[in-house]
Amino acid sequence: MTTPHIQAKPEQFASTCLLPGDPLRAKFIAETYLTDVELINSTRNMLAYTGSHQGSRVSVMGTGMGMPSCMLYSEELIKEFGVRRLIRVGSCGSTDPELGLNDLVLAAGASTDSNANRLQFGGYDYAAIADFELLTAAAASARKRGVDARVGNVFSTDSFYHPNRKLTAMLNRLHILAVEMEAAGLYSVAARHRAQALAILTVSDHLITHQQLSSEERERSFDTMIRIALDVAVN
Ligand code: ADE
Repeated sequence: MTTPHIQAKPEQFASTCLLPGDPLRAKFIAETYLTDVELINSTRNMLAYTGSHQGSRVSVMGTGMGMPSCMLYSEELIKEFGVRRLIRVGSCGSTDPELGLNDLVLAAGASTDSNANRLQFGGYDYAAIADFELLTAAAASARKRGVDARVGNVFSTDSFYHPNRKLTAMLNRLHILAVEMEAAGLYSVAARHRAQALAILTVSDHLITHQQLSSEERERSFDTMIRIALDVAVN
């Protein structure tokens, strides 16, 4: 089976796939956290691997940045490769004074400035939400690990360098915790195919204080996020 963007056999993918934006992160996750790893896609360098974690098969694949890229890979993974549980592991920018660098966010919902979901919904506003089972499993894993993960609404933007100077204040007013670039699209694709999706995010930068994680801190919080995602994957 090949699609325009993935050349693999359906059976090479596990039913659960972790989805970092960066394909080199996918490589790192596979090599660090999985055993018996096989590289199963390298078309456009969008690396995908399948391996084992605690006796369960798990895949990991980069999605690229932004909703168009994330949505096309998610669509093909679900429709052509049998993936049923999609867990985004990514970074986000905090828009909440109470949410600091390094903190984790479980994106229960994803608002957006993108037109991608309206395209499928006759121009109406679609409430993009995480799968409840994955969300509660991730919250339970975080609790068990002593990690204070925030659960709430995020904002999936099409514009990393956003033209709206008042965006942060506006998002904060509606209690949106953070900005990222994929979750709203991922959630609608999963919903359309009755698959399950969740975005687990680490705060890498703060839109109010303009702080950014050092590379060391990035790695530590990244590790917690992956361990929670893998707890969900083998659950
Ligand atoms: N991902 C990480 N930080 C971000 C930001 N500030 N805006 C959008 N996506 C992000």
